[in-house]
Amino acid sequence: MNIHNSAGGGRLFLLCTVFLLWAATTPRKLIQTAGAHVVVNVCNNLTYVSETFWVHCKSGDNDIGAQYVTAGHCDYTFNFEPNVWFSTQFWCHMERDSGFHADIVAWHNGDYNAPITWCAQNDNVTGWEREAIYYTYEWARN
Ligand SMILES: *[C@@H]1O[C@H](CO)[C@@H](O)[C@H](O)[C@H]1NC(C)=O
Ligand SMILES: *[C@@H]1O[C@H](CO)[C@@H](O)[C@H](O)[C@H]1NC(C)=O
Repeated sequence: MNIHNSAGGGRLFLLCTVFLLWAATTPRKLIQTAGAHVVVNVCNNLTYVSETFWVHCKSGDNDIGAQYVTAGHCDYTFNFEPNVWFSTQFWCHMERDSGFHADIVAWHNGDYNAPITWCAQNDNVTGWEREAIYYTYEWARN
């Protein structure tokens, strides 16, 4: 057994543990003001005209609430300030009355000055930042 390597591993383990404890206890803060860093928009780009669509986002203690978004609109919007370890995430449940839903993680893609947009489309849900898609979710049947 190599004692030197073993000691190094222990130190790394301790550092990781300290980091994880710090990360887990860092408060997540939602800011509903213009000063917030990350703006999230949800768009209804479904083209089945009669279909209703609603979305409900939350993160930790912050519940944005459920809201209908009419076709061709992006009026479900919220702001948040990422916590110090840049990890704040929002979970959004999306529901279509055609019998499909999607549970997405509405994270930002690294650029804190750019708004992010999640688009509900007929075939999928796409996450956009600076006019590029960075993630695609598939709809699940209810
Ligand atoms: C979704 O709809 C909005 C509002 O009509 C539009 O501005 C946006 O470009 C559309 N996005 C996509 C990916 O089609
Ligand atoms: C997502 O859906 C759109 C239309 O609703 C389609 O054009 C696009 O190819 C789909 N993307 C993926 C990755 O399936």
